Amino acid sequence: MLQALKLVAFGAPALLCLNSTVLAEFIANPDFTQGDAEKGKQVYQRVGVCVNCHGWAGDGQAGRNPMAHAAAANLRETELDAQALYDTIRCGIPGTQMPYHDGVSYKDDRCYDLVMSDFDAGQAPVKGKTFREKQMIDLIAYLEEYIVGHGKPTYEECTHYYDTSAAKACSYLEDK
Ligand code: HEC
Repeated sequence: MLQALKLVAFGAPALLCLNSTVLAEFIANPDFTQGDAEKGKQVYQRVGVCVNCHGWAGDGQAGRNPMAHAAAANLRETELDAQALYDTIRCGIPGTQMPYHDGVSYKDDRCYDLVMSDFDAGQAPVKGKTFREKQMIDLIAYLEEYIVGHGKPTYEECTHYYDTSAAKACSYLEDK
């Protein structure tokens, strides 16, 4: 099994069956040009629920979203490039609330050369929702197109995010 995991880490097929559960298997250096930002928006909103902590605008603020309870990093101001975003989202940031989103993280040492048993009780990295490699690439495309480097959130960005529920969700940004 370990050998199989290593093969995957070096770029072999993206999916691997473990005990009848299909676990997401991420390749180390994916081709980020394959990402679909509109599909990535679904991952941000509903699959990975990044919005719960980073807010609809990715600025770590709640806006008017009642689901956005926890202030987190401002992704609009992040200096991480696509590869670093990918690694951070897969592996999370141990010691913080930022969860990891790859089901096999910390089962082997692909994240920061660390495995679960390296952490003291209570210090273990937080596990978030896990998703497929393609969803991760789509998510990165979304972050890069709509969030990273975008300055203050605007009404237009808000209406793009909320779509049919924009009138209610974005009124606080009107005339700004
Ligand atoms: C449970 C809350 C929570 C969720 C859910 C969450 N994050 Fe985070 N995230 C955080 C916190 C808190 C930090 C800041 C950690 C620190 O103190 O460095 C962070 C940091 C980050 C960073 C590092 C930014 C930088 O410049 O260093 C990235 C990138 C990130 N999150 C992306 C995401 C994405 C994408 C998702 C959805 C797949 C997500 N996060 C889900 C709480 C969360």
